[in-house]
Amino acid sequence: MAALRSSLPWAKLPLIVNGPMANVAGGDLAAAVTKAGGLGMIGTMFDMNDYKKNLTKASKLLPQGSISQSNGTLPVGIGFMLFAQKLNAAIPIVEEFKPAVVWLFAAVEFDDYAIWAKAVRGVSPASKIWIQCGSVASALHIAKSSASDVLVMQGADAGGHGFEKSAGIISLLPEAVDALEKAGFGHIPLVAAGGIADGRGVAAALALGAKGVVMGTRFLAAKETTVPPKYLAALLKAKDGSQSTVRSKVFDELKGPNAWPVAYDGRSIVTESYTDHVKGVGIEEIRKLHAEAVAREDEGYGEKARVAIWAGSGVGLVTEVMDAADIVEQVRGQALKVCKAL
Ligand SMILES: Cc1cc2nc3c(=O)[nH]c(=O)nc-3n(C[C@H](O)[C@H](O)[C@H](O)COP(=O)(O)O)c2cc1C
Repeated sequence: MAALRSSLPWAKLPLIVNGPMANVAGGDLAAAVTKAGGLGMIGTMFDMNDYKKNLTKASKLLPQGSISQSNGTLPVGIGFMLFAQKLNAAIPIVEEFKPAVVWLFAAVEFDDYAIWAKAVRGVSPASKIWIQCGSVASALHIAKSSASDVLVMQGADAGGHGFEKSAGIISLLPEAVDALEKAGFGHIPLVAAGGIADGRGVAAALALGAKGVVMGTRFLAAKETTVPPKYLAALLKAKDGSQSTVRSKVFDELKGPNAWPVAYDGRSIVTESYTDHVKGVGIEEIRKLHAEAVAREDEGYGEKARVAIWAGSGVGLVTEVMDAADIVEQVRGQALKVCKAL
């Protein structure tokens, strides 16, 4: 924990992090989460200019000197998705902005993480490398290749993409803790992701051995997040994530062939595209119906949605839009209360 704390000296415990959700978690969200004592993360899909824009925005929003960062890094993180992004395009961004955390995810091969980590450390030695993975074996592989300063263990309940073969954090996390300890990597802090949407989830993750938590779905309903209004409405309407969300690869097939590495699928709100897929409707027909729906006034978010609406199984706990700072403070306060009452 000391290593994690010293790299994020402004952070309050328990550490709360927003997921670097591509095209959704920008500079406004990252700055607000960091200012509230969490770790704000920025995610974008392909465009390196988007990173620049969002990092510039975050650094302008973070009052100089009020968040101490003696090692010269910017007190926010950025996430890269390795299968979709080019190392030589990403590295100048890291070099220019020196974010406190560089988060890596979705490599085609686990060994790609070590290549990226080395390049990041080469231009910004003080930036910490966080790698999100979803199995004990991948955590061990990454630890052994010295790729990661922190491992984000992502469980099956997570919204958006993750390992198709997955388990909830309640079993994934303690097994990873034990396996890493046994292999001599007990010093690598683990952070939990997947299905955590309030302070009770945070307290549970800490009990499992996590040193902090990542929330994605909960932050989709933050005022600073750039979620389209129809997406947000579907999110707030969804209850009982066990029934209203599902993991499937079909969500990545809607616009054309799936570009994700084979080990990944994604969790979305159950849509008409998914139910058609289960009924055996062919992918060409599903794509055609999807394209027609997107062209409609409701842009495919109607009563019977056709577009992917990425959300985790904790979606039923997301009931209102709030300032990101209030989310961080509310969740942190609730977690501390739960821990004290144990
Ligand atoms: C809409 C959405 C987009 C996401 N995009 C990314 C991404 O670009 N990169 C990434 O590493 N993780 C991404 N994630 C996953 C999060 O980092 C995190 O693992 C997940 O949100 C945690 O589960 P939760 O949604 O139940 O809180 C995304 C999640 C959501 C909900």
